[in-house]
Amino acid sequence: MDVLTAISQRSSVRAYKATDVEEDKLEKILEAGRLSPSASNRQEWKFIVVRNKETKKKLAKAAFGQSFIGEAPVVIVACGTESKAVLGCGQPAHTVDVSIACAYMILQAYELGLGTCWIGAFEEDEAKKILSIPEHVRVVAITPLGYPNQPPSRKFRKSLDQIVCFEKYE
Ligand SMILES: Cc1cc2nc3c(=O)[nH]c(=O)nc-3n(C[C@H](O)[C@H](O)[C@H](O)COP(=O)(O)O)c2cc1C
Repeated sequence: MDVLTAISQRSSVRAYKATDVEEDKLEKILEAGRLSPSASNRQEWKFIVVRNKETKKKLAKAAFGQSFIGEAPVVIVACGTESKAVLGCGQPAHTVDVSIACAYMILQAYELGLGTCWIGAFEEDEAKKILSIPEHVRVVAITPLGYPNQPPSRKFRKSLDQIVCFEKYE
């Protein structure tokens, strides 16, 4: 599968089969995160793999009751392990770095036939308590991971001419 095919066909999955995620597939997905780029190659990240049913349920509750999170066989919690660094452009490095890694993992998961859903709506402090995450570490994103139990949804995207301009901002 080429990259643009994965990008164009992937959609968020909010219903999962009980079928477990094979270890070799999970490892490949985590490898995609490991190999992703980061500012100054800092790699200040940690990906927590959760399979425990109770823990997943607690995470779903911390995500304002998005119960499908608890139904997936695996939940990945993506953390920035250093949150003080700021990029030259003013953006927090950990947010950018961890988001790129998550995007890579999500695409790799899609290529392997697995579904994901980027979760940005969660109570960070709750998630940290549940997973014993140290104070200085930030939780950037959560994704359930598993075989989709829903048809792919249609993509609604702006057209290129709405979002691209040339030479200056228009
Ligand atoms: C930063 C971010 C946060 C998101 N948070 C949530 C979320 O908390 N719950 C959810 O169901 N989907 C969430 N999504 C998924 C988006 O709603 C989804 O990607 C978007 O509607 C486009 O649909 P698609 O992923 O199917 O192409 C999030 C996506 C991003 C990128």
